[in-house]
Parts: sequence; C-alpha cells; structure tokens
Amino acid sequence: IDTQDSPRTVKVLEAAEAYARAELGGDSGGHDWWHVHRVRNLAVELAREEDADRFLTELAALLHDIGDFKLSGSLTAGEEAARRFCTEQGLSAEDTDHVAGIVADLSYKGAGVPDAPLSLEGRCVRDADRLDAMGAIGIGRAFAYGGLHRRAMWDPEEAPRLHATETEYRSAKGSTIAHFHEKLLLLKGRMSTDAGARRAEHRHGVLVAFVNEFMAEWDGEDGRG
Ligand code: ADP
Ligand code: NI
Repeated sequence: IDTQDSPRTVKVLEAAEAYARAELGGDSGGHDWWHVHRVRNLAVELAREEDADRFLTELAALLHDIGDFKLSGSLTAGEEAARRFCTEQGLSAEDTDHVAGIVADLSYKGAGVPDAPLSLEGRCVRDADRLDAMGAIGIGRAFAYGGLHRRAMWDPEEAPRLHATETEYRSAKGSTIAHFHEKLLLLKGRMSTDAGARRAEHRHGVLVAFVNEFMAEWDGEDGRG
C-alpha cells in the first residue's frame, strides 16, 4: 500500500478531481476533462518510475489546465487558481508553492523558447502532458483544435515559422500541420524524464508516419507501390 494514501491526501485529490471536472468538462479544443484524466494517470506512472512524490505529482496533474491561457486569456490565472485551491485545502506553504509553480511553468511556449527548469514532480507532469499531445491522441487533439479555431489542415503556400517568443507562438494562426513542425514533432527531444523519453519514442513514430502519409496523399504519391 502506498504510504502517501492517507485519508487527507485522498480527500485533496478527490476535491482536485471534482474541480478539474467542473472547470474543464465541456471544452472540445483538446482541454477536456479526459485529457486531464489521461495526464493524471500517465504522470502517476512516470512518478512511480522516477521515484517522484506521488501525491504532489498527481495533484499538479489534476490542476495543470485549470485557468489555461487558451480558455482564460490570462498567463497567470492557472497558477493563481492552483494556489487558491491548495491553500483552501490546507496544504503547507511549501507544497502550495511547489504545485502552483508547476502549473505556472508547465506549458510549451514555442519552438525557440526553452522550457523552464522544473522539479522532478513537475517534469513528470510536463512529460505526461506532452505525451498526450503526441501519438494518435495527439493527432486527434491537434485537428480538433484546428477545426475549433477554423484553421486549415495544411497550406503548402504558408511560410513555416518556428516562433522565438511566447507572444508570437500564442498568436500564430498557421495550419494544423504547421503546428506539428512548431511543436508536436519537437516534443520527443524535449522530454525531461527517462520514463517520459522512453514512452515518447513510440508516440513520435506515430506522428512521423502520419505526417509522411498525409504528405504522400496530398501529393498523390501514396499507394503506387
Ligand atoms: P500545453 O498543454 O503544452 O500547454 P497547449 O495548451 O498549447 O499545450 O495545447 C493543448 C492541445 O491543443 C495540444 O494537443 C496541442 O497540440 C493542441 N494545439 C495547441 N495549439 C495548436 C494549434 N495551433 N494547432 C493545432 N493544435 C494545437
Ligand atoms: Ni494539458
């Protein structure tokens, strides 16, 4: 039995789950409750393999998309909401700072913007979040996002951009395939735990195979062999 499964931590995690479900339930742009559910499970797996603190990893995973920029339009709403939640739940100042700090520094900010340094727990959550943007689910989420925001699937005439600042990245309106080059295909190289890096290999292969097939079909070069 996991010694961290005390009645108090179970209660906090249940409250965090209820909060995330209520906040994120209906969004279909890739930030729905089921994304959080998958990230939570994956982050807990990574934490086990990496010997990270399970409770803080699981809590940060549950809170990681609350107040997200794309829903709130604010870069600090997520951190503030996480801090408020942890304080209300009676977490220590140290644990509150830790979890709020993870939520604040998790997100991808562009191909040319380096990732923030994070604790081991934060790296487990970030890798789990990024693994959910890769593989078959990552492809599904990217096109769901693109459809919601009325983006082209692909535009052969668009100039490919790798953004050097978060502001440029956030305001980009490129095609969904461009997003693969700006983010999804780079995530394998930006894993920061060994457990995450191992899982990224397969999911990256799925992305590469998809993009190659997409381009072959676009150019009418598929199915000739
Ligand atoms: P993170 O969780 O790293 O902050 P985002 O919030 O930017 O990631 O993205 C959430 C989901 O939406 C991911 O699956 C991501 O690939 C997808 N997404 C974000 N921006 C775009 C875009 N411009 N085109 C297609 N998909 C996108
Ligand atoms: Ni996320």
